[in-house]
Formats: sequence, structure tokens, C-alpha cells
Amino acid sequence: MNILAIESSCDETSAAVVENGIRVLSCKIFSQIDLHAKTGGVVPEVAAREHVFKIVPAIEKTLKQAGINRDGIKAIAVTRGQGLLSSLIVGFAAAQTLAWLWEKPLIPVHHVAGHIYANWLDLASDDIIQFPIMILTVSGGHNDLVLMRDHLNFHLIGETLDDSAGEAFDKVARMLRLGYPGGPIISKMAVKGNPTAYNLPRAMLKSKDYNFSFSGLKTAVLNIVETELRNTGKLNEQFKKDVAASFQECVTDILSDKLIRAAEEYKTSEIHLAGGVSANISLREKVTTKIEKYRMEIKLRYIKKIIYCTDNAAMIGAAGYFYFQENPNRYNNLGTLSLPDPNLNLYQ
Ligand code: KG4
Ligand code: ZN
Repeated sequence: MNILAIESSCDETSAAVVENGIRVLSCKIFSQIDLHAKTGGVVPEVAAREHVFKIVPAIEKTLKQAGINRDGIKAIAVTRGQGLLSSLIVGFAAAQTLAWLWEKPLIPVHHVAGHIYANWLDLASDDIIQFPIMILTVSGGHNDLVLMRDHLNFHLIGETLDDSAGEAFDKVARMLRLGYPGGPIISKMAVKGNPTAYNLPRAMLKSKDYNFSFSGLKTAVLNIVETELRNTGKLNEQFKKDVAASFQECVTDILSDKLIRAAEEYKTSEIHLAGGVSANISLREKVTTKIEKYRMEIKLRYIKKIIYCTDNAAMIGAAGYFYFQENPNRYNNLGTLSLPDPNLNLYQ
């Protein structure tokens, strides 16, 4: 069963065709990174306008690449929220229009459910994901620890009380004049820096709950950068590398620690990393090392293809498939009933 999926919640216009929630037949992503690099972050109206230009080409190209037309598509899945309202509206309107025109069910999908289901993409046929799973899903827009006891059963264990780790990566990169998005650049710089050069605050690391806070860390980095500018009048390359490495060390310590503790407490069979920040090599390595150190009998999964860590439509097609399997009749009229919702709630 093939699903045509559409994602436009932030700054990527994407369309994909996914078979049975797992096999990606095609996935087209138009990134707006170059556009937003000029402003150092996403300007919602600029993003929405760009989605308008790219949504039809994205759909046409992905169908062509999959070698599929209307008859080969069983249903259409689309991101309903969370995200930027003006960006969501573009993808949602396109999906609704196609669903109506082609007389197909329309499956609204939560963006974070999509990120979580990215771990199912391109799964080998003899590989079965075992519940319960503890998932750390982190991007620019969210920073959640999620317990999944079964398909579509999302239980929020912890979340950020202020900024997400992705947002912190982006802001620190901006402070260091490194460009946008911050994650990939910071992690590249960090390889050549000293992770112990600056002792940054590890907020809530020892708290008993599973919540996070990254706003204090951002302020601490800002103070270091401002002091350096006052003292030397510039930010040299080695300084940037050391700050990047110390910052990354701090974030990945906090994320990996809480994730491992939550997986232990809830005795999960697997640990998953998802979302844009899960592309971070240091985070992957740290979780791997801690699993070995504590001799945990647990399977770690992260998304091998970086394009499925960050925003893409294939993950929406994967999640959409499992929603459709659960209740196929539910989606016949939703095309006319539901609307995009920037604050859509995923958790029970
Ligand atoms: O999932 P995503 O594409 O968009 C949102 O849903 O927000 O995630 C984008 C975020 C950005 O904050 C970006 O800096 C971060 O993911 N990111 C990374 C890396 N690659 C992307 N953060 C850390 N390390 C990376 N390698
Ligand atoms: Zn995302």
C-alpha cells in the first residue's frame, strides 16, 4: 500500500511515496537553508512563500521518481502540526486538494510522530522493532523523551522547559558567526576543539525528572563570547572550535544521560534517536558508549540517512501508514473537517 506524503511545517518542502510505512519509493526535499542563512534563522512569511513555489514541483517530482500516478496511491498523509501555521497551511491545502480531487483518504499526522517513525524507514524485512521503546526526539522545535509501548502509543516522559537542544545549536552558531543551521557546523567545528576548554552549566542533569533546560547554557555561551570580544576584539578559529566542542559536550552529556536513565527505569527493549539533532555523531557515540558501560541489553537505533533525521515527507508517510492501518475508515471525511494546528498535541 503506497502513501503519498507531504511535509511543509517549517523550512523544508517535501513530498514522498512510502510503501507499507517502511519502504521509501521516493522522497523529494526542497531545502530553504540558503534562503534562511541570510537572516540567521527562519522568517515564517518567507518560508511560507517559498513553500508555495515548491509544493507542486515536490509532489510532481516524487510521483515521477516513484513511477506512480493517482491509481498507485492509496491515501495521502500530511503534517497537520506542530509547526509554523503559514507553512503548514501550504502543504495541508495541497494535500486536501489532491485528496478531494483524487478521492483518496487524507491522514493528518503530527510532525513529531513523523520524526519518531523515521526509525521505521527502510527497515530490513527480517528486522522487527520491539516495544517498549524509549525515544529521544530532538530538533529545533521540540526536545522530547517519549515512551512507546505500542504503535501510535506516545507517552511523554520529559520535555524541555524552555529551548530545544536544536535551537541552542542554532543560537550558539549565530553567536560564533558560523551561519545557519547551527547543528552541522557546530559538530564539524567541535571535532577540532577541546571539549573541556569551558566548563558549561549542565542544567537539570541531576534532577529526578526527565525534563530539560537549555536557556541557561545559551546565556553562559553568550557570556564567554562577549568576554572574548571585550578582551581580544575578535573570535579566532581555535576559540570557536573550543566553544563549539565544549557546548556540544555539554548538550550531549545531558541528552544521553537522561535518555539512558529513562530507558533503564521503564525497562525498554530499544532506544531510538530521532529528529534533526539525532544526526549529531557525538550524541550517537555517547549513547552507544553508555549502553556498553552499563552493560544494558538494549537495542539502539538511529536514522542512518541524515535526510530522514531532519524534516522530510517520508517520515510522515511512515507514521501515516500506521494511523491508517489502525482505523482506515476514519480518514475518509477528515479532509474537509480538520485544519492545520501549530500547537497540535501528540501525547495522551
Ligand atoms: O527536525 P528538523 O529538520 O527541524 C525541526 O523540526 O525543527 O531539525 C533541525 C534542527 C536544527 O536546529 C539543526 O541545527 C539541528 O536540527 N541539527 C543538528 C545537526 N544537524 C541538524 N544538531 C546537532 N548536530 C547535527 N549534526
Ligand atoms: Zn522536524
